[in-house]
Amino acid sequence: MTNQITLTRPDDWHLHLRDGAMLNAVLPETTRHFARAIIMPNLVPPVVTSADADAYKARIMEAVPEGADFTPLMTLYLTEDTDADDVAAAHASGLISAVKLYPAGATTNSASGVADFDKVRGVLERMAEIGLPLCVHGEVTDADIDIFDREAVFIDRVLDPIRRKTPDLRVVMEHITTSDGADYVKSASKNLAATITTHHLVINRNDILVGGIKPHYYCLPVAKRESHRLALRAAATSGDTRFFLGTDSAPHTDPNKLSACGCAGCFTAPNTMPILAHVFEDDGALDKLEGFTSLHGPAFYRLKPNTTKLTMTKGGAAPMPEKLITAEGEVTLFDPGFELQWQVTA
Ligand code: DOR
Ligand code: ZN
Repeated sequence: MTNQITLTRPDDWHLHLRDGAMLNAVLPETTRHFARAIIMPNLVPPVVTSADADAYKARIMEAVPEGADFTPLMTLYLTEDTDADDVAAAHASGLISAVKLYPAGATTNSASGVADFDKVRGVLERMAEIGLPLCVHGEVTDADIDIFDREAVFIDRVLDPIRRKTPDLRVVMEHITTSDGADYVKSASKNLAATITTHHLVINRNDILVGGIKPHYYCLPVAKRESHRLALRAAATSGDTRFFLGTDSAPHTDPNKLSACGCAGCFTAPNTMPILAHVFEDDGALDKLEGFTSLHGPAFYRLKPNTTKLTMTKGGAAPMPEKLITAEGEVTLFDPGFELQWQVTA
Protein backbone atom coordinates (compact mmCIF):
# COMPACT_ATOMS: atom_id res chain seq x y z
CA MET A 1 0.00 0.00 0.00
CA THR A 2 1.32 3.45 -0.91
CA ASN A 3 1.35 5.86 2.00
CA GLN A 4 3.34 8.66 0.51
CA ILE A 5 3.57 10.23 -2.93
CA THR A 6 5.80 12.99 -4.23
CA LEU A 7 4.61 14.87 -7.28
CA THR A 8 5.96 17.63 -9.45
CA ARG A 9 4.34 20.69 -7.88
CA PRO A 10 0.84 21.05 -9.37
CA ASP A 11 -0.74 23.93 -11.30
CA ASP A 12 -4.38 24.94 -11.45
CA TRP A 13 -5.47 25.53 -15.06
CA HIS A 14 -8.74 27.30 -14.13
CA LEU A 15 -9.08 29.42 -11.00
CA HIS A 16 -11.24 32.28 -9.70
CA LEU A 17 -9.26 34.53 -7.38
CA ARG A 18 -11.70 37.47 -7.28
CA ASP A 19 -10.37 40.80 -6.04
CA GLY A 20 -9.93 42.94 -2.92
CA ALA A 21 -10.54 41.28 0.45
CA MET A 22 -11.65 37.99 -1.15
CA LEU A 23 -8.46 37.81 -3.22
CA ASN A 24 -6.40 38.34 -0.10
CA ALA A 25 -8.23 35.57 1.73
CA VAL A 26 -8.30 32.91 -0.99
CA LEU A 27 -4.94 33.36 -2.71
CA PRO A 28 -2.90 31.72 0.11
CA GLU A 29 -5.17 28.66 -0.18
CA THR A 30 -3.91 28.23 -3.75
CA THR A 31 -0.27 29.25 -3.30
CA ARG A 32 0.12 26.67 -0.50
CA HIS A 33 -0.06 23.82 -3.05
CA PHE A 34 0.02 25.26 -6.57
CA ALA A 35 2.87 27.03 -8.37
CA ARG A 36 0.83 28.57 -11.19
CA ALA A 37 -2.80 29.09 -12.09
CA ILE A 38 -4.80 30.31 -15.06
CA ILE A 39 -6.68 33.24 -13.59
CA MET A 40 -10.26 33.74 -14.68
CA PRO A 41 -11.13 37.27 -15.84
CA ASN A 42 -14.81 37.41 -14.76
CA LEU A 43 -14.42 40.26 -12.30
CA VAL A 44 -16.94 43.10 -12.13
CA PRO A 45 -16.10 44.81 -14.46
CA PRO A 46 -14.32 42.02 -16.37
CA VAL A 47 -10.64 41.92 -17.32
CA VAL A 48 -11.03 42.88 -20.95
CA THR A 49 -7.92 44.75 -22.07
CA SER A 50 -4.22 44.18 -21.59
CA ALA A 51 -4.20 47.21 -19.28
CA ASP A 52 -6.89 45.54 -17.13
CA ALA A 53 -4.87 42.31 -17.01
CA ASP A 54 -1.69 44.15 -16.12
CA ALA A 55 -3.39 45.95 -13.23
CA TYR A 56 -5.11 42.76 -11.99
CA LYS A 57 -1.82 40.85 -12.12
CA ALA A 58 -0.20 43.55 -9.98
CA ARG A 59 -3.01 43.26 -7.40
CA ILE A 60 -2.55 39.47 -7.32
CA MET A 61 1.23 39.75 -6.90
CA GLU A 62 0.64 42.20 -4.05
CA ALA A 63 -1.53 39.58 -2.32
CA VAL A 64 0.91 36.65 -2.72
CA PRO A 65 1.95 35.64 0.81
CA GLU A 66 5.52 36.32 1.87
CA GLY A 67 7.81 33.48 0.81
CA ALA A 68 5.35 31.84 -1.59
CA ASP A 69 6.47 31.15 -5.15
CA PHE A 70 3.43 31.67 -7.35
CA THR A 71 2.92 32.83 -10.93
CA PRO A 72 -0.54 33.95 -12.02
CA LEU A 73 -1.15 33.16 -15.70
CA MET A 74 -3.44 35.92 -16.82
CA THR A 75 -6.35 35.75 -19.26
CA LEU A 76 -8.46 38.29 -21.12
CA TYR A 77 -12.23 38.14 -21.20
CA LEU A 78 -13.35 37.96 -24.83
CA THR A 79 -16.06 40.44 -25.83
CA GLU A 80 -17.51 41.35 -29.19
CA ASP A 81 -15.34 44.50 -29.03
CA THR A 82 -12.03 42.81 -28.17
CA ASP A 83 -9.14 44.29 -30.17
CA ALA A 84 -7.01 41.60 -31.84
CA ASP A 85 -3.92 43.84 -31.73
CA ASP A 86 -4.26 44.35 -27.99
CA VAL A 87 -4.60 40.57 -27.50
CA ALA A 88 -1.55 39.88 -29.68
CA ALA A 89 0.54 42.50 -27.86
CA ALA A 90 -0.46 41.09 -24.46
CA HIS A 91 0.55 37.63 -25.66
CA ALA A 92 3.85 38.81 -27.17
CA SER A 93 4.85 40.55 -23.94
CA GLY A 94 4.14 37.39 -21.93
CA LEU A 95 1.36 39.10 -19.95
CA ILE A 96 -1.42 36.68 -20.93
CA SER A 97 -1.53 32.93 -21.40
CA ALA A 98 -5.05 32.58 -22.83
CA VAL A 99 -8.27 34.33 -23.78
CA LYS A 100 -11.53 33.28 -22.16
CA LEU A 101 -14.78 32.83 -24.06
CA TYR A 102 -17.94 33.12 -22.00
CA PRO A 103 -21.17 32.84 -23.97
CA ALA A 104 -23.18 35.88 -22.84
CA GLY A 105 -25.20 35.03 -19.74
CA ALA A 106 -23.71 31.55 -19.25
CA THR A 107 -22.54 32.03 -15.69
CA THR A 108 -21.38 34.38 -12.90
CA ASN A 109 -20.45 37.82 -14.30
CA SER A 110 -20.75 36.80 -17.95
CA ALA A 111 -23.05 39.59 -19.15
CA SER A 112 -20.25 41.02 -21.34
CA GLY A 113 -19.65 37.66 -23.02
CA VAL A 114 -20.13 36.78 -26.64
CA ALA A 115 -23.62 36.52 -28.18
CA ASP A 116 -22.68 36.61 -31.87
CA PHE A 117 -19.70 34.33 -32.46
CA ASP A 118 -19.08 35.78 -35.94
CA LYS A 119 -18.11 39.06 -34.24
CA VAL A 120 -15.06 37.43 -32.65
CA ARG A 121 -13.83 35.58 -35.74
CA GLY A 122 -11.02 38.07 -36.38
CA VAL A 123 -9.67 37.70 -32.84
CA LEU A 124 -9.90 33.90 -33.00
CA GLU A 125 -8.04 33.83 -36.30
CA ARG A 126 -5.31 36.02 -34.89
CA MET A 127 -5.05 33.76 -31.83
CA ALA A 128 -4.71 30.73 -34.11
CA GLU A 129 -1.86 32.48 -35.95
CA ILE A 130 0.07 33.29 -32.79
CA GLY A 131 -0.72 30.04 -30.95
CA LEU A 132 -2.62 31.66 -28.07
CA PRO A 133 -5.11 29.22 -26.46
CA LEU A 134 -8.82 29.94 -26.15
CA CYS A 135 -10.38 28.79 -22.88
CA VAL A 136 -14.04 28.04 -23.41
CA HIS A 137 -17.00 27.99 -21.04
CA GLY A 138 -18.82 25.40 -23.11
CA GLU A 139 -22.52 25.95 -22.55
CA VAL A 140 -25.16 27.43 -24.81
CA THR A 141 -27.50 29.86 -23.13
CA ASP A 142 -30.60 29.51 -25.31
CA ALA A 143 -33.70 29.48 -23.12
CA ASP A 144 -35.10 26.47 -24.97
CA ILE A 145 -32.10 24.26 -24.18
CA ASP A 146 -32.38 22.30 -20.95
CA ILE A 147 -29.60 23.20 -18.52
CA PHE A 148 -28.41 19.57 -18.42
CA ASP A 149 -28.00 19.54 -22.22
CA ARG A 150 -26.17 22.84 -22.59
CA GLU A 151 -22.67 21.40 -22.88
CA ALA A 152 -23.54 18.79 -25.51
CA VAL A 153 -25.46 21.34 -27.59
CA PHE A 154 -22.59 23.83 -27.31
CA ILE A 155 -20.21 21.31 -28.83
CA ASP A 156 -22.46 20.76 -31.84
CA ARG A 157 -23.67 24.30 -32.41
CA VAL A 158 -20.73 26.47 -31.38
CA LEU A 159 -17.46 24.72 -30.64
CA ASP A 160 -17.25 22.29 -33.51
CA PRO A 161 -18.11 24.98 -36.12
CA ILE A 162 -15.47 27.32 -34.61
CA ARG A 163 -12.85 24.57 -34.68
CA ARG A 164 -13.71 23.62 -38.28
CA LYS A 165 -13.41 27.24 -39.43
CA THR A 166 -10.22 27.81 -37.42
CA PRO A 167 -8.50 24.42 -37.15
CA ASP A 168 -5.25 25.94 -35.90
CA LEU A 169 -6.96 27.54 -32.90
CA ARG A 170 -5.78 25.86 -29.70
CA VAL A 171 -8.80 25.31 -27.44
CA VAL A 172 -9.27 24.24 -23.83
CA MET A 173 -12.80 23.08 -23.07
CA GLU A 174 -12.99 24.06 -19.48
CA HIS A 175 -14.64 22.16 -16.66
CA ILE A 176 -16.19 19.46 -18.84
CA THR A 177 -19.11 17.73 -17.14
CA THR A 178 -20.30 15.15 -19.66
CA SER A 179 -19.20 12.06 -21.54
CA ASP A 180 -20.03 14.10 -24.66
CA GLY A 181 -17.31 16.60 -23.67
CA ALA A 182 -14.77 13.88 -22.90
CA ASP A 183 -15.56 12.02 -26.14
CA TYR A 184 -15.31 15.20 -28.19
CA VAL A 185 -11.85 15.91 -26.76
CA LYS A 186 -10.75 12.34 -27.44
CA SER A 187 -11.99 12.59 -31.03
CA ALA A 188 -9.71 15.54 -31.83
CA SER A 189 -6.31 14.80 -33.28
CA LYS A 190 -4.75 18.07 -32.09
CA ASN A 191 -5.30 21.54 -30.65
CA LEU A 192 -7.97 20.46 -28.15
CA ALA A 193 -7.74 19.68 -24.45
CA ALA A 194 -10.07 19.83 -21.46
CA THR A 195 -9.85 20.71 -17.82
CA ILE A 196 -11.79 18.75 -15.25
CA THR A 197 -12.67 20.11 -11.81
CA THR A 198 -12.24 18.35 -8.50
CA HIS A 199 -15.92 18.54 -7.63
CA HIS A 200 -17.17 17.09 -10.93
CA LEU A 201 -15.10 13.97 -10.20
CA VAL A 202 -16.94 13.58 -6.89
CA ILE A 203 -20.57 14.71 -7.15
CA ASN A 204 -23.44 14.04 -9.53
CA ARG A 205 -26.74 15.88 -9.77
CA ASN A 206 -28.36 13.73 -7.11
CA ASP A 207 -25.89 15.13 -4.62
CA ILE A 208 -27.28 18.59 -5.35
CA LEU A 209 -30.96 17.74 -5.24
CA VAL A 210 -31.80 14.55 -3.33
CA GLY A 211 -32.82 14.90 0.31
CA GLY A 212 -32.91 18.70 0.24
CA ILE A 213 -31.17 21.22 -1.98
CA LYS A 214 -27.43 21.61 -1.36
CA PRO A 215 -26.43 25.09 -2.52
CA HIS A 216 -22.74 24.44 -1.88
CA TYR A 217 -22.81 21.79 -4.62
CA TYR A 218 -24.35 24.15 -7.17
CA CYS A 219 -21.88 25.29 -9.80
CA LEU A 220 -21.82 25.87 -13.53
CA PRO A 221 -21.76 23.84 -15.62
CA VAL A 222 -24.06 22.01 -13.22
CA ALA A 223 -23.08 18.44 -12.26
CA LYS A 224 -24.77 15.86 -14.48
CA ARG A 225 -26.01 12.28 -14.00
CA GLU A 226 -23.76 9.53 -12.59
CA SER A 227 -22.78 8.06 -15.97
CA HIS A 228 -21.21 11.40 -16.87
CA ARG A 229 -19.32 11.61 -13.58
CA LEU A 230 -17.90 8.15 -14.25
CA ALA A 231 -16.83 9.23 -17.75
CA LEU A 232 -14.98 12.19 -16.22
CA ARG A 233 -13.30 9.93 -13.66
CA ALA A 234 -12.20 7.61 -16.45
CA ALA A 235 -10.82 10.52 -18.50
CA ALA A 236 -8.98 12.12 -15.56
CA THR A 237 -7.41 8.88 -14.35
CA SER A 238 -6.60 7.52 -17.82
CA GLY A 239 -3.25 9.23 -18.26
CA ASP A 240 -4.51 10.81 -21.52
CA THR A 241 -2.52 14.05 -21.77
CA ARG A 242 -5.49 15.95 -23.17
CA PHE A 243 -7.12 16.04 -19.71
CA PHE A 244 -5.78 18.07 -16.81
CA LEU A 245 -6.81 19.76 -13.58
CA GLY A 246 -8.63 23.07 -13.56
CA THR A 247 -10.28 23.35 -10.15
CA ASP A 248 -12.68 26.17 -11.06
CA SER A 249 -12.41 26.97 -7.36
CA ALA A 250 -14.98 29.77 -7.18
CA PRO A 251 -15.47 31.33 -3.76
CA HIS A 252 -18.76 32.97 -2.82
CA THR A 253 -19.72 33.97 0.71
CA ASP A 254 -22.28 31.81 2.48
CA PRO A 255 -25.06 34.45 2.30
CA ASN A 256 -24.55 34.59 -1.47
CA LYS A 257 -24.70 30.79 -1.77
CA LEU A 258 -27.51 30.22 0.73
CA SER A 259 -29.99 32.48 -0.96
CA ALA A 260 -33.24 32.24 -2.92
CA CYS A 261 -31.05 32.87 -5.98
CA GLY A 262 -27.76 31.35 -4.93
CA CYS A 263 -24.47 31.88 -6.74
CA ALA A 264 -22.79 29.10 -8.72
CA GLY A 265 -19.40 27.89 -7.57
CA CYS A 266 -17.60 25.36 -5.38
CA PHE A 267 -14.62 26.46 -3.29
CA THR A 268 -12.05 23.70 -3.65
CA ALA A 269 -8.66 25.40 -3.54
CA PRO A 270 -7.79 24.33 0.03
CA ASN A 271 -8.72 20.64 -0.23
CA THR A 272 -8.35 19.76 -3.91
CA MET A 273 -5.07 17.87 -3.60
CA PRO A 274 -6.21 15.60 -0.71
CA ILE A 275 -9.51 14.96 -2.51
CA LEU A 276 -7.76 14.10 -5.78
CA ALA A 277 -5.37 11.71 -4.04
CA HIS A 278 -8.40 9.93 -2.58
CA VAL A 279 -10.19 9.82 -5.97
CA PHE A 280 -7.19 8.56 -7.92
CA GLU A 281 -6.36 5.99 -5.24
CA ASP A 282 -9.98 4.74 -5.26
CA ASP A 283 -9.67 4.21 -9.00
CA GLY A 284 -6.32 2.43 -8.68
CA ALA A 285 -4.64 5.29 -10.53
CA LEU A 286 -2.41 7.08 -8.03
CA ASP A 287 0.37 6.77 -10.61
CA LYS A 288 -1.69 8.96 -12.98
CA LEU A 289 -2.23 11.80 -10.50
CA GLU A 290 0.99 13.65 -11.33
CA GLY A 291 0.18 13.74 -15.04
CA PHE A 292 -3.27 15.17 -14.34
CA THR A 293 -2.19 17.82 -11.82
CA SER A 294 1.35 18.68 -12.90
CA LEU A 295 2.41 17.53 -16.38
CA HIS A 296 -0.39 17.55 -18.97
CA GLY A 297 -1.35 21.19 -18.38
CA PRO A 298 2.15 22.65 -18.89
CA ALA A 299 2.57 20.50 -21.99
CA PHE A 300 -0.59 21.94 -23.56
CA TYR A 301 0.31 25.51 -22.56
CA ARG A 302 3.87 24.96 -23.87
CA LEU A 303 5.44 25.60 -20.48
CA LYS A 304 7.94 23.55 -18.54
CA PRO A 305 6.65 21.53 -15.59
CA ASN A 306 7.53 23.01 -12.20
CA THR A 307 10.89 22.01 -10.80
CA THR A 308 9.72 21.92 -7.17
CA LYS A 309 7.79 19.05 -5.58
CA LEU A 310 4.76 18.40 -3.41
CA THR A 311 4.59 15.45 -1.03
CA MET A 312 1.35 13.91 0.19
CA THR A 313 1.04 11.44 3.04
CA LYS A 314 -1.82 9.09 3.88
CA GLY A 315 -3.06 8.77 7.43
CA GLY A 316 -3.36 11.08 10.39
CA ALA A 317 -4.79 13.98 8.38
CA ALA A 318 -6.40 16.52 10.69
CA PRO A 319 -9.90 17.47 9.48
CA MET A 320 -9.93 20.59 7.31
CA PRO A 321 -11.85 23.59 8.62
CA GLU A 322 -15.34 23.77 7.13
CA LYS A 323 -15.09 27.44 6.30
CA LEU A 324 -12.58 30.06 5.35
CA ILE A 325 -13.10 33.32 7.21
CA THR A 326 -12.72 36.36 4.96
CA ALA A 327 -13.29 40.06 5.48
CA GLU A 328 -16.28 39.71 3.14
CA GLY A 329 -17.81 36.84 5.13
CA GLU A 330 -17.43 33.09 5.50
CA VAL A 331 -16.79 30.85 2.51
CA THR A 332 -17.67 27.16 2.87
CA LEU A 333 -15.18 24.63 1.53
CA PHE A 334 -16.40 21.94 -0.86
CA ASP A 335 -17.35 18.84 1.18
CA PRO A 336 -16.42 15.70 -0.79
CA GLY A 337 -18.66 13.55 1.44
CA PHE A 338 -15.79 11.33 2.54
CA GLU A 339 -13.11 11.67 5.18
CA LEU A 340 -9.85 13.01 3.85
CA GLN A 341 -7.02 10.63 4.58
CA TRP A 342 -4.34 12.26 2.46
CA GLN A 343 -2.67 15.48 3.44
CA VAL A 344 0.01 17.63 1.90
CA THR A 345 3.06 17.26 4.12
CA ALA A 346 5.80 18.98 2.17
O1 DOR B 1 -19.69 27.63 -10.83
C1 DOR B 1 -19.14 28.55 -11.42
N1 DOR B 1 -18.70 29.65 -10.76
N2 DOR B 1 -19.00 28.47 -12.74
C2 DOR B 1 -18.53 29.49 -13.47
O2 DOR B 1 -18.46 29.35 -14.66
C3 DOR B 1 -18.21 30.78 -12.82
C4 DOR B 1 -17.87 30.60 -11.41
C5 DOR B 1 -17.82 31.89 -10.64
O3 DOR B 1 -17.19 32.86 -11.11
O4 DOR B 1 -18.38 31.95 -9.55
ZN1 ZN C 1 -14.81 29.06 -13.74
